[in-house]
Parts: sequence; C-alpha cells; structure tokens
Amino acid sequence: MSAPQRVLSGIQPTSASFHLGNYLGAVKQWVALQDEHEVFYFLADLHSLTLEPPEPAALTQRSRQAAAQLIAAGVDPERSAIFLQSHVAGHTQLTWVLECLTGYGEAGRMTQFKDKAARGALDRVSVGLFTYPILQAADILIYQAHLVPVGDDQRQHIELTRNLAQRFNGRYGETFVVPEAFTPPSAARILDLQDPTSKMSKSLPDAGTLNLLDPASALVKKIKRATTDSETEIRYDPKTKPGVSNLLAILSAVTGDPIDGLVAGFAGQGYGALKTAVADAVAAFAEPFAKRVTELMADPAELDRILAAGADRARPVAERTVADVYTKVGFVPPLSRSV
Ligand code: TRP
Repeated sequence: MSAPQRVLSGIQPTSASFHLGNYLGAVKQWVALQDEHEVFYFLADLHSLTLEPPEPAALTQRSRQAAAQLIAAGVDPERSAIFLQSHVAGHTQLTWVLECLTGYGEAGRMTQFKDKAARGALDRVSVGLFTYPILQAADILIYQAHLVPVGDDQRQHIELTRNLAQRFNGRYGETFVVPEAFTPPSAARILDLQDPTSKMSKSLPDAGTLNLLDPASALVKKIKRATTDSETEIRYDPKTKPGVSNLLAILSAVTGDPIDGLVAGFAGQGYGALKTAVADAVAAFAEPFAKRVTELMADPAELDRILAAGADRARPVAERTVADVYTKVGFVPPLSRSV
C-alpha cells in the first residue's frame, strides 16, 4: 500500500466564532480527511495580524477558542496535529527564502491582496498583507503536503505555492512536494443569508452570517430573515433563486439529505416551512457544538497541552525542511543544528 498522502490546512483565528460556512465548507472536510491521511491543521495566528491587528488579549482568546472549535467539530488531536502557526518558527524562516524567489509584480497580482487593499487606505495596508500569500506558501511547503483543502478563494494562493515550489526545485534541486488544492466534492459553498451572491464571511454585515457560538435564538432569527425571492415555489436553482437554493444547500449539508429529496418533501409548502426546517437543523447542530466548546474552554491548560503536542509533531518536519532549504541555498550549516 502506498504511504498516506499528507494533508495540510489552516484557518485564521480572526473571530470569536466559526460561522456555518467555515464549518460546512472547510472544517467538516478536515474531519473526514483525518481518517485516511496524515493531517496537519493549524491556526494561522501570524496571518491574523495582516489586517487591523487584533487586541492582544482577544487574539489569545480567539486562538484557544478556534482550537476548541476544531476539536468540538470532530478534529481529533490523537490523529491530527492541531497547532498554532506561531509555535513553529520554521514557517517564518522559510517565508524569507520564498519571498526572495517571488517577484514583486507576481505578489501584486494576488486578487485577495488587491481586494483587501482596495478596502483600506494604502498607508494602512501592511507589508504583511502583501506578503501574506508567501507565508501561506511556506505553511504548505514546509510540511511537504500533497493536498491542501481550501475554498475557491484560496486557489490563486495555492497556484503561487506550486509555482514557488517548482521554481525552488528547478533552481536548487528536488526539495518540495508540489501540492494541490483540494476541494472535496462534498464541500458545501455556503452563501451569505442577506446577500446570497456572496460567500458567507465574517467581513460581511452580521445579519447574513450564522456564527456557530451564537445562541440558537439568534441563529433562528437570522434564518427567518434570510433573503429569498418574490416567487413561492421551493426549487434548487442557484442562478435565479440564490437565497432559496442556499437555504436548501445548508439544510442538505447539515442533515446529510440530498437536495432533490428535500425539494420533493417540500412540495406544496412555502418558504416559511423551509426556513423552519433550516432553523431547526442548524440549531440542533449548533447547540451541542457550543456546549462542547464551552466545556473545552473551561480547561485552557488542557487546550494548551493539546496545542503543544500538535506543535511537537509539526516541528521536526518543519525543521527538516528548513535545514534542507538553508543548506541548498548555500547558508553555512550551523554546527549545532540537530536535523
Ligand atoms: N489564507 C487561508 C484562509 O484565509 C488561511 C491559511 C493560511 C491557509 N495558511 C494556509 C490555508 C495554508 C491553507 C494552507 O482561508
């Protein structure tokens, strides 16, 4: 049997709660992948300084809370290395070398940078935001990951990562696995409830985002107010009925029932019935999830222990790659290096 493929992904601890799109679009796939792959999942705390830097205490709290949410969602610290990016120094050590291989124009073509930069005054846009994708490339290449489960919005960053891996390999000899973006067919793309043409995102107004740690009553209220359309028929047609289709997609992803069957079951019923079903299903998922997160957060020392164990698993792999890269570019190997 061939060796299991290595999977790596990261999520930024930028808000107190994951939203339903984070869970159904990403974290749920992470959980499934840990059965058959060697997996590394980290919280991209370094990346979370690239926009307005958060309050330090909030960043600390959110990082632990993000770890608790991964575990509550089913990421198993026994099978998965769960760690903080800032706990493995190699990420930034590799970033420097990759930055020196990246063209200024090449980095400037990253659409996520352009979008984010367009929203802020240029002198408040940090250099860190500009080099963000190169740190992301280092995150991936340092673990020699084969597969990177990410949403479509990250594909350009994975393409840059592949280009940098090939460029380094071409110049210095085979060093990096050239990774692939991986969007499992089951990954749901969940849209904003108020603007169902945009992906659900914490950067859109709160009314359209289902935060999993919100009280069930708040989730229900947002679902009841979700944008639909002026027809009455429940049909799945993302082009002409994005709001209703999004509600069907959410219901299907949360319950596991195929959309066709759901549509058939709603025959003759109105949007109110659909919203009630979505609200019930989301609340039934979110309530036990939030309870588990509260339990885990009650023992921060245990969470820190889990994160330390994850970093202990990640660090030797990272150190090996950095040592190899530093030697290949010609840095004199320090006598004290252990790997
Ligand atoms: N940029 C990713 C996002 O916003 C988070 C991330 C950082 C990431 N480093 C990564 C994802 C490495 C995959 C691999 O979703």
